[in-house]
Amino acid sequence: MNLTRFAKARHATKSFDPARKIPAAVIDELKELIRFSPSSVNSQPWHFVVAQSDAARARVAKSMQPGYAYNEAKVTRASHVLVLCVRKDMDEAHLNAVLEQEAADGRFASDEAKTVQQNTRGFYVNLHRERDDLSAWMEKQAFLALGTLLIGASTLEIDACPMEGFDAKALDEELGLAERGLTSIVVVGLGYRSADDFNAKLPKSRLSAEAVFTELV
Ligand SMILES: Cc1cc2nc3c(=O)[nH]c(=O)nc-3n(C[C@H](O)[C@H](O)[C@H](O)COP(=O)(O)O)c2cc1C
Repeated sequence: MNLTRFAKARHATKSFDPARKIPAAVIDELKELIRFSPSSVNSQPWHFVVAQSDAARARVAKSMQPGYAYNEAKVTRASHVLVLCVRKDMDEAHLNAVLEQEAADGRFASDEAKTVQQNTRGFYVNLHRERDDLSAWMEKQAFLALGTLLIGASTLEIDACPMEGFDAKALDEELGLAERGLTSIVVVGLGYRSADDFNAKLPKSRLSAEAVFTELV
């Protein structure tokens, strides 16, 4: 597979065809893809809200008013919308849940190996807590899932638009995320481009390879 082809074929979709819906099996594949995203020390500090029905997407779209109205139709006309969330804190309950999942999945040959993993994860969590950048660290992990989702969608011929243009506080309130210890960080519209999607016709633009790579010799 030539993965670069999919990276170049995808684009931030500015207008979706509201008549076309993504098959459930494809959505399931995308969900599985992001569930398997890597994260530092397997911390998995994320949660994903999937909105499919008109009513569900309308709830998400409310957070685009008034300041981000240009993004509203990308939610209301999409087939599905995914809200990427992160935890507000990396609490003991979550750390234990991850550790027990790893144990159940057969990651530890001994109790000692389990303790080593627990301590390693705890070290990094504490490091970021001390540096006062725990939230930013968790968001970085969730952005890996975003990148995985965007390239994965392209391979499945699904169009997508990632959006930071929304009122996170309003969306957290609408979806009851704060009570669940979560906050929204990115909204992604998923579906199929419509004929009036101007961005599909524009050439892609990236800085040159010379500008973004340094080859050490
Ligand atoms: C984290 C993130 C936030 C973005 N927010 C928005 C947004 O609010 N609205 C929008 O139309 N596009 C948004 N974009 C799309 C970018 O503008 C787009 O990815 C970038 O210009 C590169 O173009 P391409 O994705 O078509 O290759 C966002 C992209 C990312 C990765």
